[in-house]
Amino acid sequence: MLVYNLDHVGIAVRDLESAIAAYGDKYGVEPLHREVVESQGVEEALLPIGGSFVQLLQPVDSNSPVARFLEKRGEGLHHVAYAVLDIDAALAHLRAGGAKLIDETPRVGGRGARIAFVHPADLAGTLMELVEPRLDQDG
Ligand code: CO
Repeated sequence: MLVYNLDHVGIAVRDLESAIAAYGDKYGVEPLHREVVESQGVEEALLPIGGSFVQLLQPVDSNSPVARFLEKRGEGLHHVAYAVLDIDAALAHLRAGGAKLIDETPRVGGRGARIAFVHPADLAGTLMELVEPRLDQDG
């Protein structure tokens, strides 16, 4: 499996507007992209930093995983996402190694990317996301 970039760090927030404003005020970064991702029940904002993004996530559906995360844990680091060239090959590699997958097959995430989540119990208590970016959507 080839992981070639830290694509983004996902952070769960209660109020997307105030989180975006705070990132701008404190760190001087502005969102490049905003999108409601129905498959995850969130609205996300992507703030570019170097070759990666901070992904701020606000639930738009009270039953979404991010909504449940906020209820249990409050705001904070939700997942880290690694870019891969071939997500099908990456999932096959992880499955062969006995990894605990949340998504057995990829689904569509923000910017039309193909994504899949790996359970935090699999490695270092961290929810991992694999991202195969769409080649015609660079950011
Ligand atoms: Co993500």
